[in-house]
Amino acid sequence: MYIGLDLGTSSLKAILIDDAQQVLAEHAVPLTVQRPADGWSEQDPQSWCDAAVKALGALAAAQDCSGVTGIGLSGHMHGATLIGKDDAPLRPCMLWNDTRSHAQAAAMDAKARFRDITGNIVFPGFTAPKVEWVRENEPEIFGRIAKVLLPKDYLRLFLTGEHVSEMSDAAGTAWLNTGARDWSDELLADCNLTRDQMPSLVEGSAPSGRLRADLATLLGLPRAVVAGGAGDNAAAAIGAGVVEDGTAFLSLGTSGVLFAATNGYRPDPETAVHSFCHAVPRTWHQMGVILAATDALEWLARLTGQTAADLTRDLGAVEAPGRTLFLPYLGGERTPHNDAAIRGQFLHLDHATDARAAARAVLQGVSYAFADCNRALAATGTRIESALATGGGARSEHWLSMLASTLGFPLEVPQAGDFGAALGAARLGQMAATGAGIEIAGKPLIARTVQPDAGLRAALADGHERYRAAYDLLRGIA
Ligand code: XUL
Repeated sequence: MYIGLDLGTSSLKAILIDDAQQVLAEHAVPLTVQRPADGWSEQDPQSWCDAAVKALGALAAAQDCSGVTGIGLSGHMHGATLIGKDDAPLRPCMLWNDTRSHAQAAAMDAKARFRDITGNIVFPGFTAPKVEWVRENEPEIFGRIAKVLLPKDYLRLFLTGEHVSEMSDAAGTAWLNTGARDWSDELLADCNLTRDQMPSLVEGSAPSGRLRADLATLLGLPRAVVAGGAGDNAAAAIGAGVVEDGTAFLSLGTSGVLFAATNGYRPDPETAVHSFCHAVPRTWHQMGVILAATDALEWLARLTGQTAADLTRDLGAVEAPGRTLFLPYLGGERTPHNDAAIRGQFLHLDHATDARAAARAVLQGVSYAFADCNRALAATGTRIESALATGGGARSEHWLSMLASTLGFPLEVPQAGDFGAALGAARLGQMAATGAGIEIAGKPLIARTVQPDAGLRAALADGHERYRAAYDLLRGIA
């Protein structure tokens, strides 16, 4: 038996699978995000540990967990969890969608070595510029940093007592030599940090420690091996069987991700595509990331006093897009703009624009943002022929059909449940415990395939061009 823990932005999910990867139990614990100022996004690291104890306790209460031999961890990426000598957090964790450090990111990105060594733009959401922001704004805290940990690696410290990270998440810090799969001493020195302040690195499928004895006793679990695990996107890919070159998934979560596995390291920072290590040895991946996917719909739901489910119910068949445009840049954008200052826009509203029309425009705007990611991936030479659809937003048939038509390729919907990153984490736990390889990371059974509607191609291509033109015009005055 294996456990997968996925530390998400809005909840921590735990699943228990048997040796045949059947899900035996699952449990989710909600988490909150604090936004004390515009562009800030923080979480209390202690809340992750409390949630993990609750979730693991719930699994142990639901099933006999004495056969658990491996645990895998997945988590939201890029967060800066700064801990002191006593391993306690020095401040709240600044999350992946915290854009306060845009000036620090731009200054780092202007030094060619960051793109050369990491293969990526230094985005404000990445870890290094956040720590630089702390150095400039909270020097007393910076001076006390014993280690910088990614969110799931802080959870690992709590679970195992070990300071360890793995390649896929480390690639999102802006300190990793992504091709060599090792920390870059040069980039760390550039940020007034040393390798000693970083966790050691393992592959995601390799062991990183064992569950602490006291926790094992408290939770009624064996002292299972804890795998390196992965950043949530690489973990979701392992859960979806996206490891071979050219396979892809589209995730409609809080953020949106178009992810393609690659058989080599193919960086192309100019495109604002992320080129990161995958969670298994000698593999990499690329992804386009948009900051607000279901987050944009949730925003409209709050504004209109309806739920996202209400807004997307009964939208009927996808039609040619209307003139109303929505740009989902509520907290800035990564791919393809790398623009922390831009904000969301509604254009061409008229007297007839009601909540339903606004919802259509939001779904279409997010779909255009994915089309931008696809264009950016294509510019690196990565062509996606079809993708697996995952994440909460994929429950909307209307949205999936709109996305398939906007992207121009089919989307495959998995058959049972959406265990995504938690399943990927459990699979990495299985690899670490048994020595198995990617043969255990198969593709899920597909319930149905959503095909693009060729009849809408011209209207959607036209809408996409208007969407792109709107960004170019608005960024000057936004
Ligand atoms: C990826 C990214 C997000 C987070 C949140 O670069 O920032 O997908 O991992 O889940």
